[in-house]
Amino acid sequence: MSSWWREAVIYQVYIRSFADGNGDGVGDVAGLRSRLPYLAALGVDALWLNPWYASPQVDAGYDVSDYRRLDPLFGDLDDAKALIQEAHEHGLRLILDIVPNHTSDQHAWFQQALASAPGSEARARYHFRPGRGADGSEPPTDWPSIFGGPAWTRTVNADGKPGDWYLHLFAPEQPDLNWTNPQVRREFEDILRFWLDLGVDGFRIDVAHGLTKDPAFPDLASREAGGMLDAATEDHPYFDRDETLAIYEDWRRVADSYEGERVFVAEAWVADASRVARYLTPTRLHTAFNFGLLSCPWDATALRTEIDATLDVLAAVGAPPTWVLSNHDVIRHATRYGRAHTSLANARRLYGTPVDHALGERRARAAVQLINALPGGTYVYQGEELGLPEVEDLPPSVWQDPNRRYKDHDGPVRDGCRVPLPWSGDAPPFGFSPEGATAPPWLPQPAEWKERTAATQEQDADSTLSHYRTLLRIRREWLGRGLGDGAALEWLPQAAEDVLAFRRGEVLCYANLSAAAVQLPAGYRVLIASEPVAGAALPVDAAAWLVAE
Ligand code: NOJ
Repeated sequence: MSSWWREAVIYQVYIRSFADGNGDGVGDVAGLRSRLPYLAALGVDALWLNPWYASPQVDAGYDVSDYRRLDPLFGDLDDAKALIQEAHEHGLRLILDIVPNHTSDQHAWFQQALASAPGSEARARYHFRPGRGADGSEPPTDWPSIFGGPAWTRTVNADGKPGDWYLHLFAPEQPDLNWTNPQVRREFEDILRFWLDLGVDGFRIDVAHGLTKDPAFPDLASREAGGMLDAATEDHPYFDRDETLAIYEDWRRVADSYEGERVFVAEAWVADASRVARYLTPTRLHTAFNFGLLSCPWDATALRTEIDATLDVLAAVGAPPTWVLSNHDVIRHATRYGRAHTSLANARRLYGTPVDHALGERRARAAVQLINALPGGTYVYQGEELGLPEVEDLPPSVWQDPNRRYKDHDGPVRDGCRVPLPWSGDAPPFGFSPEGATAPPWLPQPAEWKERTAATQEQDADSTLSHYRTLLRIRREWLGRGLGDGAALEWLPQAAEDVLAFRRGEVLCYANLSAAAVQLPAGYRVLIASEPVAGAALPVDAAAWLVAE
């Protein structure tokens, strides 16, 4: 039998926005436990949970102050243990999010470092460096923080005088760890073991391409910085460096020392599929998010090029691809696909520019059907199964993303894709929080979401939720017949321009990105289509799976 993770459908639980069990307006483990039956019925194989560790929550949990405890916002270790067990009972594996590039500035190590003298052992776990200029008042390099401003913050010495600077590729509250330090390496292997011992099935690695830095700390000068959504180029001083790969060889040995298949998925925004493949050799990580497809416009040639490049390059290292359309950092794809510019690079968020949401949702349904026919695994970002749009009009008073402090932007940056889910009912909190909750959801939900609740869509056979459920059920049956990862993709001569058409095993997949309906081949019946197919004509912006009659 093929390894579970090679073709898994993994549902991303953005825990603070999934389901609130204790009524404080923030999602938590109790809420998630109560919704496990929904996730099992959806037909996914595993859950990836965004960070739930103790954290000041400056960057929604990506600023960890204690990696072995849960933040009280979400629950405690007993809740975590119960969740792991119950998820497994529902047939769902559980993947945590590990944050190795940086800690919180409130982490004990960083507090010790600040309290210790320059050059001390405590400081050697981070990157402290003297400033430039006669009085050291210039940052050590010209590196920018991804959230805006410089990537360095100056410290104050015990005598009150300005001291060294420390590196933070993200917010100043997220100091970067020094991965040449053996204590750092030992500590993270120990953290992995802590959670693996509790039974988790793997880890998503945050900023997996960022851990090591050029020890010479050169300026970027005219080089591109590379951001969270931009690919880093080769020989970069802090992204996608060769030394990082050796760390994952150690991590792989840790994971392989456990029973069952415990796996890693890398969040690596690197230049292209060939750079991703470096992380996925058999002695390194298992999978990585495919951001190429997530960034791709709604265009048949661009999608096909991306699919082919990914399949070719990953086949060479024996790793399965993963296909992703959205996550908690990027605009919801039902909105992206409804704008004139459909690529991530062109669209970013483009708040305030026209969006045809019905078109976006229709394309989103076709896209999810397309990716689920491809070899490899897929990801579902919570709420995409409800066709949720980006929330563009959150008032500035509720914005939480640390991006808001620095960046020129046209809206609530990443908060617009993080609004709490609508489960049921006619008015907020739409079942997100229990009856009698003491606080409203941490971000306000649009009133129109009463049409989009899970409860409403469950009653409607044509809803996006029903489409996901049927799609994932058929996918599972199809894979169950051994047509998974092993069945290669074979492109079919195109029925028309701008139509993606391929065979995998017994199934043909058509996705129509052209301007007119296309005729599907004779002798086949439709297994499932993202829009009604009449007279074997596949409508525009729709996808269908076919099998021989
Ligand atoms: C990537 C995460 O997905 C994002 O949400 C976070 O802000 C950065 N890494 C920093 O940890």
